[in-house]
Amino acid sequence: MENINWKEFGFGYTKTDYNVRCHYRDGKWGELEVSSSDQINVHIASTGLHYGQQAFEGLKAFKGPDGKVRVFRIDENGKRLQSSSHGIMMAEMPLDLFREAVIKAIKLNERWIPPYESGASLYIRPVLFGNGAQVGVKASEEYTFVVFVMPVGPYFKEGFKPTDYVIYREYDRAAPQGTGIYKVGGNYAASLRGGSRAHAEGFSAVLFLDAKEKKYIDECGPANFFGIKDNTYVTPKSNTILPSITNKSLCQIAEDLGMNVERRPITVEELSDFSEAGACGTAAVISPIRKIVDADNNIEYKYGEEAGERSFKLYETLRGIQYGIVEDKHNWNTIIEF
Ligand code: PLP
Ligand code: COI
Repeated sequence: MENINWKEFGFGYTKTDYNVRCHYRDGKWGELEVSSSDQINVHIASTGLHYGQQAFEGLKAFKGPDGKVRVFRIDENGKRLQSSSHGIMMAEMPLDLFREAVIKAIKLNERWIPPYESGASLYIRPVLFGNGAQVGVKASEEYTFVVFVMPVGPYFKEGFKPTDYVIYREYDRAAPQGTGIYKVGGNYAASLRGGSRAHAEGFSAVLFLDAKEKKYIDECGPANFFGIKDNTYVTPKSNTILPSITNKSLCQIAEDLGMNVERRPITVEELSDFSEAGACGTAAVISPIRKIVDADNNIEYKYGEEAGERSFKLYETLRGIQYGIVEDKHNWNTIIEF
């Protein structure tokens, strides 16, 4: 991609050359298919369309300064898609098939993988949905899986510059025993109203609280939350948040860097005890938090105009591993052979 301005990419859709598909019918998965179209056939009575039987994933591939392309923790995403599928009664995709589809989609779009110097990466979006007709509320017997890729820059346009988040108690993204731990579209639909108000009011995202008591921190829009207290990385334990693979990796990196790690419920008041705070996820990477505004109580929790020292070290190590600059001692990367 000879004339591409890699620095222009934010987190919008870009059509690339090919996507990979797979269909499940008669109780089994078919062969992987390659398509150059970004349209798909959806049954008018599909459960994906009517009853939200749908889940997706998000992962990234990075081109390092050594020219190698690495995908980060692909099997973790495969397992999470299985968990989401189980959660809403969709056919589960075998890990090997998921892996093969993702790698195929990356290889077929090699020219779209951003060069190291650009700071951009290749975002991979697998999606699975019920595509068989069902008008009663029942699980589909047919499923369609698609994986497409696109070059992306930062999710929040400020990148590693700290931004502001907001607490509004009138919106919940997930119910206490609901689907918050699954990566299903319904959670994102439920987050749209709060998210769009947050944007209109100058915030990056909503910091959601637990829906039951509105007492504990859940997560930051499309990312998990962490705070730093002395030498400790603290992140919410909750059964209504997405188990973030980035967060799980940061917990390990924090430990490797000699920090303590606590995964436990975090009350809203505890926000004042942190010296640094951030949102983390595949798209968000680490997006440091400048301040959190509790809009219902007119309280502000402030963390500074620049990212803190520990957030920076965590960010640098995570990116370093992903780009092949820091030793991948936990074997998180899969190197793609072209
Ligand atoms: N929380 C939500 C709601 C998300 O959509 C994401 C993105 O995937 C995350 C957290 C971060 O998860 P991961 O680090 O696995 O991308
Ligand atoms: C990701 O971080 O991969 C996400 O899926 C977040 C968002 C774009 C939905």
